Amino acid sequence: MLALLWLLSLSLPSLWAEILIRCSYKSLCQQALVSGNDVVLQCDYPQALWYFSPILGEDPFLISAVPNIKKLPGGSLQLTNPQPSQTGLYHCQDSDNALVVEYEIDFQDVSTLHITHKGLGQKPLQNETLSLGGRVLVFTHWEPWQDCNRCGEPGERKRLGYCYIEEPQEKAMPCWLYLRGEKTHSSRLRTELQVEACLAPCDHVKETNQPYFIFDIYPLGKLTNNMWLTCPLASIYRPILWEVNDIPLTWQGQLSNQVLSSILEPTNGGRQLQIFQPAIYKCFVKQELMARFNPRPFPDVPETLQQEETGPQLESREARKGKARSVLKGLKLMLLVGIFLGLLGLLLKLCHPSQHKRSDQVLLVK
Ligand SMILES: *[C@@H]1O[C@H](CO)[C@@H](O)[C@H](O)[C@H]1NC(C)=O
Repeated sequence: MLALLWLLSLSLPSLWAEILIRCSYKSLCQQALVSGNDVVLQCDYPQALWYFSPILGEDPFLISAVPNIKKLPGGSLQLTNPQPSQTGLYHCQDSDNALVVEYEIDFQDVSTLHITHKGLGQKPLQNETLSLGGRVLVFTHWEPWQDCNRCGEPGERKRLGYCYIEEPQEKAMPCWLYLRGEKTHSSRLRTELQVEACLAPCDHVKETNQPYFIFDIYPLGKLTNNMWLTCPLASIYRPILWEVNDIPLTWQGQLSNQVLSSILEPTNGGRQLQIFQPAIYKCFVKQELMARFNPRPFPDVPETLQQEETGPQLESREARKGKARSVLKGLKLMLLVGIFLGLLGLLLKLCHPSQHKRSDQVLLVK
């Protein structure tokens, strides 16, 4: 499954690019992000050593064996489901202990996300002054709007707004980097998500044979009547769209307190969908079909009584259950071709054991 995701990422490199946090060589970059949403901190040095120091001014420690942090082969650092407690300084150095790049990251707590929809007249949070030693201004620093989640037809777009604090005559800082572990009980210290309607033209030719995931969903149990679907490669940082039997779901519908047959999870921007009834569910990321979830009449394995789990367990359960049945015909073909060429190479080698090295090279070049 992971290998397939990796292959998919090769074929759709643009999909990874957006959650890659970059900073120029030998610089320090400060960045607010939301917790619970995966990111990669870039450091282009394969033997990179990463150090972390939390905001409480503790000594930096070498990052190794942190369950949700992984160093990628190129040197970059991948954080899966980062937590607010992982706010702090990430320092990447080379094998001579010289700085390559540094990040000060504020993973703002997504569980207190303040979500508003322009079309419903809901207002974002107002600026507020707080007294923290001196008087400081708390305000929302808005990211640019993401692309519309549909094209050619009415869709929605969203933008994240991070909590920032500004002292008079000082540069504003992400709230929890400013606070450095200090406790405050202001309800203004929250991250925002704002949604509005949009209508974007289709500026690309829609590919009809583009690869996508297909998952099976088994009957929703009688005792428990909900489950979660997770859209692969989706993220709060990217435009996402869900369709139920070809009808798009909207944040407007969800936020206007209609009775719902499915619920978009706000804390991951709708990467997950909670469903209550069988239907064909499709998800799109950056306007491209990413996955299709088909209801199936009979489960292969009787496991209907385990559906009450919550949180991350649910996700893994879903991963188990919704094993990608047929994934990406194109990639399968690629794999088959690869295997075929490998076997062919082996066969040729076996048939001509006395051949010179030169002909081996020819084979390789092919
Ligand atoms: C809130 O504060 C920010 C930062 O100083 C400023 O850019 C913005 O205009 C303020 N907004 C309002 C409504 O005063």
